[in-house]
Amino acid sequence: MDKLLIRGPKPLSGSVEVAGAKNATLPIMAATLLTPEPCVIRHVPLVQDVKTMMKLLQILGKQAELKGDTLYLSDGKSLNVEAPYEIVKQMRASYYVLGPLLAREHRARVSLPGGCAIGPRPIDLHLKGMRALGAEIAIEHGYIAARARQLAGSEMLLEGSHGPSVGASANVMMAATLAQGRTVIHGASCEPEVVNLAEFLVALGARITGAGTPTITVDGVGQLHGTDFQPIPDRIEAGTLALAAAITRSRVELTGCRPEHMSALLEKMRGTGCSVEASGSTLKLDGRHAVKPVDVTTAPYPGFPTDCQAQFTALLCLAAGRSVVTEHVFESRYLHALELARMGARIDVDANQAVIDGVPKLSGAPVMASDIRASASLVLAGLAAEGETEISRIYHLDRGYARLEEKLRRLGADVTRIR
Ligand code: EPU
Repeated sequence: MDKLLIRGPKPLSGSVEVAGAKNATLPIMAATLLTPEPCVIRHVPLVQDVKTMMKLLQILGKQAELKGDTLYLSDGKSLNVEAPYEIVKQMRASYYVLGPLLAREHRARVSLPGGCAIGPRPIDLHLKGMRALGAEIAIEHGYIAARARQLAGSEMLLEGSHGPSVGASANVMMAATLAQGRTVIHGASCEPEVVNLAEFLVALGARITGAGTPTITVDGVGQLHGTDFQPIPDRIEAGTLALAAAITRSRVELTGCRPEHMSALLEKMRGTGCSVEASGSTLKLDGRHAVKPVDVTTAPYPGFPTDCQAQFTALLCLAAGRSVVTEHVFESRYLHALELARMGARIDVDANQAVIDGVPKLSGAPVMASDIRASASLVLAGLAAEGETEISRIYHLDRGYARLEEKLRRLGADVTRIR
């Protein structure tokens, strides 16, 4: 298993380009199951989860080929309808094949994802949505077994006790594209990745309005065709790199991003004293000032993204005072706090709240990654800490970041991958 060795602290400088969004690319890849025609997806992030989704689509009978960062997807001889446990246990987003398979093949068997390091992650809203479209669903032998003669449009509320669901909104929207009649999803997620999926589906010939608002309307069509598409830039990778600039008190430029997707994060970064300048698709960060404490509460888009909470917490560990972080999306997403404490951070976690008393410096230590974003927070802490930080289990990091260490090295960080 690979490890990352970081020697810090070292200031960063220079410019890097942001990759395509993992969380937009994954549902878009699954959506190609809806059409028999070839699709081309450009500027895909070369992360492990994209490779896992390629493998899953191949198991389901699609042909998937990656040339550089362009992905070519087309139908094979016939489609299979079973997403096996071996794949789903590696990546929960495998459940994105449920909606497309039900819509096109009228049946699907998708393994239940099981436990997750960031807390309970039920899929009741996905199932509620599919049932509302007329699917019969049974849970058998660890699998979701779903079938429907022909999905039929319907009106539904897809919000749960933690607010809207990105995954359920996307899954139901995909299924509804080939359903008979009109589907109205209330309580839909407004995340840019859901909007981007809607744009992809419209490019395939789907009829969708309202994406980006809490009410999405889908008018079913008879069939969908192929397209050539480039997903949006990754706002979470961009946020992680922006926070790398802030935590190392550096000046860094990020190109190829969509700052308008990052408003909540950038506003909080400004609150810490980091200067942020957005111009078109470029972001200029200047973190050379002292870090001020701020309070942060995660929320569905356009709120502060839960996927940047761990990385922001790393920055607040070095603030001059007390900050309070409240997690409202995944309430126990704090495994990184214990590892940051090993590096000298003072964090007290109680239920969904972390109280962070800033310290003047962190010290390098051996630490362990537990999920994609927790890993990224340890990388950031390692960049700022004195001495050596060795991060193990970085396969978590590799699921969501394409060779993050190479980007950081280009900015001047001392980061090495140990095989
Ligand atoms: N929820 C339910 N029932 C459901 C589905 C979700 O109660 O059927 C709850 C969840 O437990 C959570 C909340 O609703 O409390 C929001 O979950 P959501 O469904 O929106 O999350 P997701 O679709 O499973 C995606 C991203 C996550 C990101 C969340 C929130 C992908 C592949 N994953 O997950 O990304 O944290 O939205 O923005 O898009 C990551 O990239 O590291 C990551 C975890």
